[in-house]
Amino acid sequence: MRRGKFIVFEGIDGSGKTTVINSVYSSLTEEGCCIYLTREPTDNHVGRLIKHFIKGKGDYEIDERVIAALFAADRLDHILRPEGISEKLNAGVNVLCDRFWLSSCAYQTGAFPMEYILDLNKGSMELVKPDLTIYLSVGVSVALGRVESRGEEREQYESRDRLEKISRNYEKAINLRKEADNIVVVDASRDESSILEEVLGLIKNIIS
Ligand code: TMP
Repeated sequence: MRRGKFIVFEGIDGSGKTTVINSVYSSLTEEGCCIYLTREPTDNHVGRLIKHFIKGKGDYEIDERVIAALFAADRLDHILRPEGISEKLNAGVNVLCDRFWLSSCAYQTGAFPMEYILDLNKGSMELVKPDLTIYLSVGVSVALGRVESRGEEREQYESRDRLEKISRNYEKAINLRKEADNIVVVDASRDESSILEEVLGLIKNIIS
């Protein structure tokens, strides 16, 4: 059986990633494509622990290195668990994943270098390689406006300074991983239908 394609979506908070992914998923499934939609952090054990900490609900301030290791562990489990990414791909299912290791490079790089994060994620990198990574590129002001209009509980990452740093880290990570992860940068400050058209075109080139 032909292996499914692994397609990753990346972007800063407020880049419109979730809206785009949901529209892509609906369009492709309506056309009869076999798609598994998934995201990180996951809703599994490690993912739930991560969400607890990044929402500031832990009873102490956890070290960023521990968070980085938890994200790497959640990713490995996401790949290896029953009905996880590997199993789906091997069964010929195309996997759309909302965030993957590029997110760790962007969000966890700070007090320690990006190479440290890449090392932590070596296990995952050896197991699966994205066939396509779509980076939804948007300015920090636009992103913050979108986060505000959602009216959701703010995560610790959603302050201007923090998002600007994350944006710069993404740029650096994209330069490092552009070829290996087949990263395409899409201008996500445009209207929804233009973004969707471009993204669907990119994906159909890969899965057809
Ligand atoms: P979401 O907003 O796309 O649901 O992602 C949840 C948060 O988790 C978001 O602020 C980014 C953060 N995150 C990391 O810090 N590192 C990672 O490796 C991943 C996958 C997400």
